[in-house]
Amino acid sequence: MGVVVPFEEKQPVEPSIDRLVGLVTDDMERVNRLILSKAGSDVALIPEVANHLISSGGKRLRPMLTLAAAQMCGYAGDGHVKLATSVEFMHTATLLHDDVVDESDMRRGKLAARKLWGNQASVLVGDFLLGQAFRMMVEVGNLQALGILSDAASVIAEGEVMQLAAAKNMATTEDEYLAVIRAKTAALFSAAAEVGPVVAGRAREEQAAFRSYGTNLGLAFQLIDDALDYGGSSAKLGKNVGDDFREGKITLPVVLAYRRGSDEDRAFWSRCLQEADIRDGDLARAVDLMRRHRALEDTVERARHYGSIARDALAPFRESEHKRALLEVVEFCVARAH
Ligand code: IPE
Ligand code: IPE
Ligand code: MG
Ligand code: MG
Repeated sequence: MGVVVPFEEKQPVEPSIDRLVGLVTDDMERVNRLILSKAGSDVALIPEVANHLISSGGKRLRPMLTLAAAQMCGYAGDGHVKLATSVEFMHTATLLHDDVVDESDMRRGKLAARKLWGNQASVLVGDFLLGQAFRMMVEVGNLQALGILSDAASVIAEGEVMQLAAAKNMATTEDEYLAVIRAKTAALFSAAAEVGPVVAGRAREEQAAFRSYGTNLGLAFQLIDDALDYGGSSAKLGKNVGDDFREGKITLPVVLAYRRGSDEDRAFWSRCLQEADIRDGDLARAVDLMRRHRALEDTVERARHYGSIARDALAPFRESEHKRALLEVVEFCVARAH
């Protein structure tokens, strides 16, 4: 006997990562155990700081991409578990570093590690986690995967430095912004997806397809993140809305609103972001200008564009539960509010 659901109560299904979560549950349990054990150290401050961030969860999207990609490629070994853990450690390390650089106070719904243990501990524990990530990659012993992930580690750092150099510069173009997010965010999504077919020993074309999927998914993901930094909710995000504004970060919503604004609008943006002179009500005014110039809508529209490229990248693969899950991840990343 089924439950009778009145027709009019049916809601459109919100895109979610549930299918992906379901497919990788067993492997992800192993990843989560490995995360906890590799965050351990006799130096007590290390697990203290690392576990603060790790125990707050996070979506674990990147390691799930690695696991799903490896499974979809028919991988039968267990190297993907260590690679997925390495990917999440690289991500965790960048978050510890990123919150120092961005002077952020909140992460995953808690105080950022730097607020509790200071910037120095955050940077050093981030370095430790990065080192642990590379140890695990070496244990897997796949030189190509090691190459892909070590390239990503360098490119992410380059992206963060590129962004630092572009901060407070109102002349930043959309192309320059894209170069930054391609490096700081898309590179890890790309590597996370690509090491799946690589460890499974699949053909170059399949590796390239997953790489393209990951890159474009990552671009879409960061575009939405940057829209949410103005139009999202701190409670849902677990981090403070307006961080980018306070930091003078020139993200796409700003680039569009600035370029489309009046002289008066541009003077406002320059005062806030270039001169870092931010007063009460300025964030609300910034969001209002963005809405008026469709800056947030168009940022989401750009995200949809990259999402479509990610989807098309998987077209050559036959239909499967894994493919369906990875396609749903694209929908989730474009529609997400957290
Ligand atoms: C945050 O990534 C950093 C960005 C690239 C925007 P996530 O939103 O995936 O962070 P967690 O791991 O789920 O907390
Ligand atoms: C995150 O960029 C990119 C990396 C962590 C390398 P953001 O600075 O936009 O991410 P949040 O908003 O702090 O999560
Ligand atoms: Mg940040
Ligand atoms: Mg952000």
